[in-house]
Amino acid sequence: MKYHPINNRLFIKNRGKFTAQMKSKAIAVFNSNDIYTTGADSSLPFHQHRDIFYLSGVDQEESILLLFPDALEKKHREVLFVKETNDHIAIWEGAKLTKAQATATSGIETVYWLSDFDKVFFDLMTEAETIYFNTNEHYRQAVEMETREDRFIKMVKDKFPAHSWAKSFPILQNIRGVKEQEEIDLLQTACDITEKGFRRILQFVKPGVMEYEIEAEYMHEFLRNRSKGFAYTPIIGSGFNACVLHYIENNQTCKDGDMLLMDVGAEYANYSSDMTRTIPVNGKFTDRQRAVYNAVHRVKDEATKMLVPGTIWADYHVEVGKIMTSELLGLGLIDKADVQNEDPKWPAYKKYFMHGTSHHMGLDTHDYGELKTPMKAGMVFTVEPGIYIPKENMGIRLEDDVVVQETGVPLNLMKNIPIDADEIEELMNS
Ligand code: GLY
Ligand code: MN
Ligand code: MN
Repeated sequence: MKYHPINNRLFIKNRGKFTAQMKSKAIAVFNSNDIYTTGADSSLPFHQHRDIFYLSGVDQEESILLLFPDALEKKHREVLFVKETNDHIAIWEGAKLTKAQATATSGIETVYWLSDFDKVFFDLMTEAETIYFNTNEHYRQAVEMETREDRFIKMVKDKFPAHSWAKSFPILQNIRGVKEQEEIDLLQTACDITEKGFRRILQFVKPGVMEYEIEAEYMHEFLRNRSKGFAYTPIIGSGFNACVLHYIENNQTCKDGDMLLMDVGAEYANYSSDMTRTIPVNGKFTDRQRAVYNAVHRVKDEATKMLVPGTIWADYHVEVGKIMTSELLGLGLIDKADVQNEDPKWPAYKKYFMHGTSHHMGLDTHDYGELKTPMKAGMVFTVEPGIYIPKENMGIRLEDDVVVQETGVPLNLMKNIPIDADEIEELMNS
């Protein structure tokens, strides 16, 4: 791991929050992600499943976490299973967690080798009535492959058909959506690394550079700051490409006179950051570019103010839509008749701003978190309005990551990342 060790107090607290919501005589199991193959003996870099990480801090493949608060033997109330290691295995396969290290990482006293799982699990299931399955019910999920969690569920349904089932996801959605201070600190670190990347490219971008060269500059800065790299596939789109919301080719030349949209964020310790900045390729906004840019900036600032305890996400989007409507009227992109005749299900502003303004952000870029209940202090949201004008080869989006606070004053984790149009010009020309 490149990141600094995380105090296991965080994972102890997270487990406490999960088990507090479990039924009695119930076991919950969380599996690592698979290491995904690319063919032959090659594989993609390992990415830990966010749930087992959240609950244990264990960042290693083939690990299993078992929670059983009502276990008759105290030592089995929380158990970790990790791949066996010893001096010989360490030479061939690289360093893996020893039992003592697994305990230090997670705060869990009982650690077994993975080869003991079947026996221990069978024994504990004889004491339990309910087994919690960790199915993926994220509102954006569209997963086709079978995960280790899926295989585990199949195995349990086959071998233990008399147990009742329960869902881990609603509990995780509830608790992961509200961040602990330690998590906000980790998110801040991810945002600070992203800031370093952005400041680097402000000195680098000029007419003629390729979008992928800019991607490389970000990666350079991220890696040298203990990040594994991008938290999600970066979007680096100049000119018309900025209007393609999921443009990830990043293979075109940045041309003089065009705007350049960059939706990039560093990960740190498996936590995301999610930033978008849009800058003039030649370091100077035209009047039109500046007018559209400032309109987006104002919408972002107004939207941010609404991220306070009690706000309902859907109502917030309606309000942001009204602010955007007024900005688009000001820019002459829509007129009063467009607004009067608009379809309430697809208001006029959607022609130029067709995506949502905010999503939960955390371990996952589109993080778990409740959307239908009032916002709570400790929730972290992006704020990402945009105006896309394909006819003008211009798409402008600005995106920051913001913490909802009890005080009613939102905390912008990206407040130090340059965004003011004058400051951007100054930094690009210094
Ligand atoms: N980078 C993905 C998003 O902004 O939602
Ligand atoms: Mn983004
Ligand atoms: Mn986002």
